[in-house]
Amino acid sequence: MDRVIVDTDTAADDTQALVLALRSDRLMVEGVTIVAGNVAFDAQVENAKHTLQVLDRTDVPIHEGAERPLLKEWSHATDVHGEGGLGGGAVPETGVDSADEDAVEFILETVRASPGEVSLLCIGPLTNVALAAAREPDLDELVDEVWVMGGAVDHPGNVTPAAEFNFWVDPDAAKRVLGDLSVHLVDWGVTLRDGVLGRDAVDRARALETPAADLFGTVVEPALAYAREQHGIDGAPQPDGLAAACMIAPEIRESVREVALAVDEREGLTRGFSLADESGTLDRSADARVIEAVDREAFADLFLAALAGDPPETALD
Ligand code: RIB
Ligand code: CA
Repeated sequence: MDRVIVDTDTAADDTQALVLALRSDRLMVEGVTIVAGNVAFDAQVENAKHTLQVLDRTDVPIHEGAERPLLKEWSHATDVHGEGGLGGGAVPETGVDSADEDAVEFILETVRASPGEVSLLCIGPLTNVALAAAREPDLDELVDEVWVMGGAVDHPGNVTPAAEFNFWVDPDAAKRVLGDLSVHLVDWGVTLRDGVLGRDAVDRARALETPAADLFGTVVEPALAYAREQHGIDGAPQPDGLAAACMIAPEIRESVREVALAVDEREGLTRGFSLADESGTLDRSADARVIEAVDREAFADLFLAALAGDPPETALD
């Protein structure tokens, strides 16, 4: 079983990544760390706690982290996820306490105590991880794997034509993380190619009538509307869930590209742009593993298994 910390800007699709990670028998979630991103920080904290309550997993600690990007002004995505992040304005009031230790200290303490054993699943802007990398020069050796949902590799972004939301919100952090750490990357491109739950899968999920499926039924509405209006797609893109599923199940990774990655941190047209380079222009090692294709049917099966209350990997049996 792989030990993992989930770093999240908890809104709709983040909740589904938490469902997958917490339901899997292949992962042990050590803690959830919160980072500024999708919606108001306090709402994200409550959304994460609510998701743990739905799964009856409030044993997992929630550690609060960066409430704004490293240098840029915070930008939200309430237009995509609803004001509160879970499909509408309402924010849960869970009454669950956050852990005392802040997110970055928790990440560092956990990986230092168990070198090479704990992975990171990063499904929001990379501010917390960048701060951890700044404080710990040996972070790349101390972590096991670093999985990142972010970027748009050789593909249009979803905030600007150049950039995907997580990398656009905090491009300085994304630049730092991709420079310091070897990551597995699930980007917006593979999300639109293989990480969209079709209408049939959405309807099957809703019919499951489990607490997790009920949560999905609530949060999926804005994703359906966003995909229809912005991308002409009849389905629900699940970027964070796809990253979690690819981390859990190597079996569904159909194509992985080893490449040098860099991010443009400058303000302007290419802020947050993720550059993949095989020409040697970057003078960087090809240490990023970009997931370029995923078995989309298997992904949907994993997703539904987790919502049904089973370990997602049982869908592969
Ligand atoms: O671009 C998609 C990413 O931005 C996802 O992590 C989503 O939750 C938002 O944070
Ligand atoms: Ca996210």
